[in-house]
Amino acid sequence: MSPPPSTKPSSSFNSHSSPTNPADRIRHIAHQMASPVLTTSFPADTVPQAPEDPLFGLAREYRADDSPDKIDLGIGAYRDNNGKPWVLPVVKKADQIIRDDPTLNHEYLPIQGLASFTSRAAELVLGKSSTALAEQRVTSVQTISGTGACHLGALFLAKFYKGNRTVYLSNPTWANHNQILTNVGLQVAQYPYFDKKTKGLDFKGMAQALKDAPEGSVVLLHACAHNPTGVDPTESQWHELAELIRAKKHFPFFDTAYQGFASGDLDSDAGAIRYFVDQGFELVVAQSFAKNFGLYGERAGCFHFVAAPTGDSARETVTRVASQLAILQRSEISNPPIYGARVASTVLNDEKLYAEWKENLQTMSGRVISMRKALRSKLEELGTPGTWNHITDQIGMFSFTGLSETQVQKLKQQYHIYMTKNGRISMAGLNTSNVDYFAKSVDKVVREVQ
Ligand code: LMR
Repeated sequence: MSPPPSTKPSSSFNSHSSPTNPADRIRHIAHQMASPVLTTSFPADTVPQAPEDPLFGLAREYRADDSPDKIDLGIGAYRDNNGKPWVLPVVKKADQIIRDDPTLNHEYLPIQGLASFTSRAAELVLGKSSTALAEQRVTSVQTISGTGACHLGALFLAKFYKGNRTVYLSNPTWANHNQILTNVGLQVAQYPYFDKKTKGLDFKGMAQALKDAPEGSVVLLHACAHNPTGVDPTESQWHELAELIRAKKHFPFFDTAYQGFASGDLDSDAGAIRYFVDQGFELVVAQSFAKNFGLYGERAGCFHFVAAPTGDSARETVTRVASQLAILQRSEISNPPIYGARVASTVLNDEKLYAEWKENLQTMSGRVISMRKALRSKLEELGTPGTWNHITDQIGMFSFTGLSETQVQKLKQQYHIYMTKNGRISMAGLNTSNVDYFAKSVDKVVREVQ
């Protein structure tokens, strides 16, 4: 075969060689001057490659797995007994009402969000008969779900909090807390939370750490259904915590993402926050509607600031805080997205729909509880080494199984079961068709890898 004919151009120039022909040389210089900069201002030593988000990376791996046996126990999103996302029937109804509304438009919301949503959101978490609400000691801002609420709270504290600017987080906590807080320049520290031996709460460790923390620290508390452990303080432990948080003048920052999911009852799941408010604390709350309304992608959330009951000055504090929150919100997102808030507001403002929502919540929390029972009894039937009472003792969306990182890895590689490497499982990923396979896989892995 003869070689291909030469394609050498008559007058060549590129960025690497300088042409000899004077006319070409002038064009070459002009070309180089007009070229974009050939280097980056963001080399690897200033912008190193970041690791993929572990939770969303896990979801990607799960989607790519074509095994018919695969089970997704990763992200905390409710699934029905067929393993499918569940659009709450009440959300479907609200959606229809919104679509049928001839006055509907797509104008901007006010900076603080949809008032019919934020006012009900505050009532939901603080209680309809809350004195803080009656005394106008609360200001609420609609946010990009719970993450946005945590962020707005963090930003507000970073700018205005003059106490100890270290936020104490439970060990472990929701993986995102750390980066949300440090991104705005706050320090983080940890308080012990999970007792590996009992797979329950390390209350002593927690209380001691909060006693040892410098006065006026910020303490981030999961209001209910702690993520990732599924372990909550008891009522009397909450009371003790309130006492020592008051004694140390710490500032409580509540994160509530699972109201209605822990006990199935909206009021008891808000019990800790309401107790602190009744005790006269000044505090903030980051509230998510992702899980309890199944509005994951719609990003409906709320941030609340509650002032202490100091009479007229409380209202004045709230007015000032609200004005600054509005500026922060405007500079960050201008005004919040409308759809999710419209859906939640439609439900929260209608007695019948509200009652139906509570039933939908019972359906979700009830199915999760039945899966806890099924999993525990299957593991006990199989005689799987270890104790498994924590599966039913823990509450909410997650169970902290106690499985090691190696065991978790093996479950993924050999059995196509996906969970976070700390051994957390989203109970909602289990159903009557896969709980058997999951229990048997856990049994094998626990026996193989101690
Ligand atoms: C989870 O922990 O799985 C959820 O809160 C989802 C998330 O954004 O991390």
